Amino acid sequence: MKVLVVGGGGREHALCWAIAASPLLTRLICAPGNPGIAEIAECFDVGAEDVAGIVALAKAEAIDLVVVGPEASLTLGMADACAAAGLLCFGPRQEAARLEGSKSFFKEIANAAGAPTAAHARFTEVGPARAYIRAQGAPIVVKADGLAAGKGVVVAATMQEAQEAVTEMMENRIHGDAGSVVVIEECLVGEEISFFALCDGTHAIPLGAAQDHKRVGDGDTGPNTGGMGAYSPAPAFTEALQAEVMATCVTPVLAELARRGAPFQGVLFAGVMLTAEGPKLLEFNVRFGDPECQALMLRLRSDLLPALLAACQGELKDFDLRWEKLASIVVVMAARGYPLSPLRGTEIRGLEAAAQVPGVQIFHAGTSLDEDGRLVANGGRVLGIGATGATLAEAREAAYAAIAKVDWPEGFCRSDIGWRAL
Ligand code: AMP
Ligand code: GLY
Repeated sequence: MKVLVVGGGGREHALCWAIAASPLLTRLICAPGNPGIAEIAECFDVGAEDVAGIVALAKAEAIDLVVVGPEASLTLGMADACAAAGLLCFGPRQEAARLEGSKSFFKEIANAAGAPTAAHARFTEVGPARAYIRAQGAPIVVKADGLAAGKGVVVAATMQEAQEAVTEMMENRIHGDAGSVVVIEECLVGEEISFFALCDGTHAIPLGAAQDHKRVGDGDTGPNTGGMGAYSPAPAFTEALQAEVMATCVTPVLAELARRGAPFQGVLFAGVMLTAEGPKLLEFNVRFGDPECQALMLRLRSDLLPALLAACQGELKDFDLRWEKLASIVVVMAARGYPLSPLRGTEIRGLEAAAQVPGVQIFHAGTSLDEDGRLVANGGRVLGIGATGATLAEAREAAYAAIAKVDWPEGFCRSDIGWRAL
């Protein structure tokens, strides 16, 4: 089988790594990829959001399966374009991808499906939004409706903060059109879990859970990021809770989308808050999480490729996926200045030595090769240092031992990934 993976981050490196191990694979290509991916796949210089370019590449290379990593490509309709060109594509169509692309669409579907989620209201005008905040009080959560690169959510501790968020989003348009509509919702309190389900439009099977670390600094301090590290499994998310989320959130939402003629095929990523009243949905994403995907792939024992194929072909019912009974962790190394203004172009050395640490697997994200062929930072989140172990403590020790061997003075990581579970 010839497979094209779309994307060039740590998540796509992990997907390529898992797919590369499949006996079904005859050729693996990636667009645009990164230097780490280039070690296991042929990379093509086509942007992940270049829908026409990706379809043309897949056609030209006679690709059997296109696997789409990032949400932006999906919300732009990459799966629809692939289908129109007769290409098999893993990932939801544009209409179903609105689940992530529009917070108010997510709320509408969750409510129609009876899935537990925070109480909310949707606003297209500033005045009523402000009045709602005054009536509800703080803490309260203000969200830009559209995609805002993970920065469109303000968990406001005070009413003033919430009103400022409304000003920024609706008047100052800091997220452009994404903030022309806002969703204001009840603030949920509890432990947050990233739960993943593989879906074929009708059936879903659990892929397990991971816990991310969104804040940039140790002890969950500083600004929000795309995720500074993850581990799997998440001990707080018991088998019983997983079954409950499958039954109350995933299955009814799949049914509701199918009923509306927008069946969901791909990975459904549920952001779940474990509240005192039980698990509640924070959001749905329509793809694997980054860095959660890296942590999950490290634990996957089954061949990933047949599972992705079964999802595309509506054959997931009773599909059996096996996981290693071990713990995995991924610690993100970011460029100094991330998330505000990451320093680019600094050289990274020592990865070969780091990769020698037993149990360690390194995933590239924002790396590139400079003119002299040196590996340099070219993004905010630059590397994901993954590791497995019999226990999370063991995995974590291995990951940090590898990090100690990475020679990159301009990089940093959190030193406490996994703290909640340890
Ligand atoms: P989202 O993009 O919806 O996942 O929001 C980003 C982050 O904001 C989530 O991962 C949560 O940590 C937080 N968040 C979102 N919605 C709520 C809520 N209703 N209550 C508390 N925290 C929230
Ligand atoms: N790590 C969170 C996300 O991928 O959205």
